[in-house]
Amino acid sequence: MRKLPEAVLITAGTKRLGFCMAKATLSMGFSVILHFRSSDRFARDWLRRNPRFNRKVFFIRHDLSDSPETVITKSLKLPCTLTGLVNNASSFSGGNLNDPEHLRRMLEIHLFVPARLGAFFHKQVKSGWIINITDAAIARPGTACQNYRMSKLFLEELTRQQAVLFAPGCRVNALAPGAILPAAGSSKAAFNALADKIPLRKTGSLAALADAYCFLVKNTRCTGQTIAVDGGWHLVA
Ligand SMILES: NC(=O)c1ccc[n+]([C@@H]2O[C@H](COP(=O)([O-])OP(=O)(O)OC[C@H]3O[C@@H](n4cnc5c(N)ncnc54)[C@H](OP(=O)(O)O)[C@@H]3O)[C@@H](O)[C@H]2O)c1
Repeated sequence: MRKLPEAVLITAGTKRLGFCMAKATLSMGFSVILHFRSSDRFARDWLRRNPRFNRKVFFIRHDLSDSPETVITKSLKLPCTLTGLVNNASSFSGGNLNDPEHLRRMLEIHLFVPARLGAFFHKQVKSGWIINITDAAIARPGTACQNYRMSKLFLEELTRQQAVLFAPGCRVNALAPGAILPAAGSSKAAFNALADKIPLRKTGSLAALADAYCFLVKNTRCTGQTIAVDGGWHLVA
């Protein structure tokens, strides 16, 4: 019987950083399952221009606030063998600890969804790997975006805990981007000015993110690690 190609599920994989990792996944020879909630146009346009990947790219639409495990159940029915999971979906917004409902929403998407997807992935797939996308900014002291920050800190700890719990079958690592792309609503000029604060004097690069991602995918002895791709921004206040 013909062996099915190995595939990687990327949440919010149809644009921006998620799609950058999707293309890196294809470049390593995997198939890719692009989860999205509302926006798939960018990835579908790219696929129309690159039809050689037609059989290697799958789309799943789902709101992760409702039974996130559904995305894995659907992935397991596709003509591929699920081997990797990237928890990339996120909601970046201000909000501090005076707003517990906002904190709950941040914990939902950045902690509970990756925790549930990770546990179900480990149960179903048994041997494979998980990469959680955190944020290098959480290593710097600060009180801005407190709820986002708390939730991503939990995600980093979740990564370490899952690495122990899911071994030896699954490796679990985290990738912590710095300022790679401007957040919705922030100007390009303000984003570029961030370079002055960064030790390497550069804002982020999608290519550097893809390099670090490929390292974590391929390295079979690396688990429980977080790699920051931020030009050293996490080292300074
Ligand atoms: N951009 C950066 O420079 C930067 C810096 C540091 C860390 N990061 C991290 O890198 C990752 C990707 O960043 P990004 O800027 O590319 O992300 P983004 O543009 O903020 O996109 C995140 C996507 O997550 C999806 N999402 C949110 N809640 C969801 C839910 N309940 N169900 C399903 N999908 C949901 C949304 O997809 P739909 O649009 O389909 O609804 C949203 O567009 C995130 O984890 C982020 O925290 C990014």
